[in-house]
Amino acid sequence: MQNLPLQICRWQPFTTASQLEQAAVEKILSLAKQAIAARGAFHIVLAGGTTPRRVYEALRQANTNWQAWHIYFGDERCLPAQHAERNSLMASLAWLDHVGIPEQQIHPIPAELGAAKATENYSLIINELHEFDLVLLGLGEDGHTASLFPGHELGTMENAPDTLAVFDAPKPPPERVSLSAHRLSNARQVIFLVTGKSKLQAVNDWRAGSAIPAAAITPKAGVDIYIENDLIQS
Ligand code: 6PG
Repeated sequence: MQNLPLQICRWQPFTTASQLEQAAVEKILSLAKQAIAARGAFHIVLAGGTTPRRVYEALRQANTNWQAWHIYFGDERCLPAQHAERNSLMASLAWLDHVGIPEQQIHPIPAELGAAKATENYSLIINELHEFDLVLLGLGEDGHTASLFPGHELGTMENAPDTLAVFDAPKPPPERVSLSAHRLSNARQVIFLVTGKSKLQAVNDWRAGSAIPAAAITPKAGVDIYIENDLIQS
């Protein structure tokens, strides 16, 4: 078993979910401003699930140069493109349909093609980019992140593929596509958004040093974990 690089965690507790969401919006916009000033573009990977929805809704009102934003997804469920459970649909309805990011700069994972084909296609897109500016991730109750689940291939090795096909995910639907842990770690900044009492056990395991999939995300600069106070037991 390869020794994983140590994960540097900066736990950032917030009293309420709305304070956490506001702080996340401010951080995302600040990172975007820095990236656009430095390199003329901002490459961000979106988290799926429900936690980021209000962050995405708040971003609709942002005053930023949308022409310089490039959107990717950390994972996707293998469902029809307009299925209510698609991560790409949630992000579009909450945010992307309401701002002026050029369509060719929004890269949904074509998971409607099935995990094998979509993984192959998305790798070609991701391959063109060296380092993400920001990766947003959620945390599942079992410690998963993106579609990297306990007991499954996480793609942590140096030579891991950028994208992984998942056929037996414990969180429905079973068929998914995920960026690998190695690819998600190739980022200037990684922010986890963690709210809800159901995540308490996963947070406790993480803080106790358990090798949950979220702990396999090891960018050089470490990870910031935006988390509700109640979930951090001293
Ligand atoms: C998915 C997500 C997944 C999610 C966590 C947390 O496609 O299911 O990418 O990793 O981020 O399961 O989900 P909630 O935000 O809904 O709690």
